[in-house]
Amino acid sequence: MPQQLHQLSSFHIGTAVKWPELSQKSSYSHLALSQFSSFTPENLLKASRIQPQRGKFNWQEADAFVKFTEQHGKRMHGHTLLWDRDLPPWINDVPGDEKVLLDHVRHIMTRYAGKFSGWDVVNEAFTETGELRPGSWFKVGGSEYLTKAFVAAEKADPHALLFYNDFDLEVNERKRDAVLSHLIKLRETGVRVDGIGVQLHLNLSTTRLNKIASSLKTMATENFLVHISELDVSVNPYDGETNTKEELFAMQAELLVQLFSLYSEINPSKRYGITFWGVCDNHSWITSDLKQVDYPLLFDDEYRAKPAWHALMKFFSNS
Ligand code: G3I
Repeated sequence: MPQQLHQLSSFHIGTAVKWPELSQKSSYSHLALSQFSSFTPENLLKASRIQPQRGKFNWQEADAFVKFTEQHGKRMHGHTLLWDRDLPPWINDVPGDEKVLLDHVRHIMTRYAGKFSGWDVVNEAFTETGELRPGSWFKVGGSEYLTKAFVAAEKADPHALLFYNDFDLEVNERKRDAVLSHLIKLRETGVRVDGIGVQLHLNLSTTRLNKIASSLKTMATENFLVHISELDVSVNPYDGETNTKEELFAMQAELLVQLFSLYSEINPSKRYGITFWGVCDNHSWITSDLKQVDYPLLFDDEYRAKPAWHALMKFFSNS
């Protein structure tokens, strides 16, 4: 039996990667390369890094990432063109200047045309109550900024698949319906939107698999590709967990198997893949950026496989 998770799966199993680790730590890159077939750069392409000053793009690390990933034959998923976080300060000085938005999308996607299979063109644009956020890109591009972004993206790289990416779409029906109806309207006016990224930052306490199943099915039925784009399972979300690690890891494994099982029921032509938001626990945004004690991923701090990895290997071997 192969010991590589992605080899057993009929859909892509990806991971978000941190470039410093990927380029400098051989244990990290070896693990990422052996277990995952699709790489999403976790932070490299965010606006503050890629365009720190207006019109001055910082390609060095992104180019290196693309070269490395291409050499290793991995699929690349681009994250993310327009998001209201991780922005350079100058963006606040250009309200109403839609050229900024168009140039941002065009420069990045043109440079890497043909390299990335898909892009999160717009990330987290809707509020919990289903309104468009009045954030920085809204101020720059106006109320039609999603249309402008997707049209510019298609023009810059006609072969790339174009995604809208967001959180809570699986649990918040109001938000999900608002997003779906907005994207369907865009399509009706001839704008191409290929898929939806459903982030799925889950935890053991509140996750409801039946809600996730029905949301994913609705998206596929509406003819969108479905990307589980940022998967992790927090086992200590409120920092008061009293179960043993062994018990938590068993629950985490069970939840992931159920999730993979329900994703496998989606029409294969609509499965873009499942991407974990990180390789191992100590590099997860939950531990390294939020500084919480948690174990949300498939591999531990020593790069060893956790029960969830073993359970998924078994799931694929038996299916
Ligand atoms: O690299 C710098 C380092 O040089 C500096 O010393 C340090 C000091 O704070 O910061 C480091 O950058 C941090 C970076 O992560 C790398 O660890 C940033 O402060 C921190 O804000 C950044 O957080 C990222 C966050 O998005 C904001 O961009 C997380 O890693 C990343 O996992 C997270 O990912 C987001 C998705 O893009 C969108 N969906 C939600 C998801 C989780 O928040």
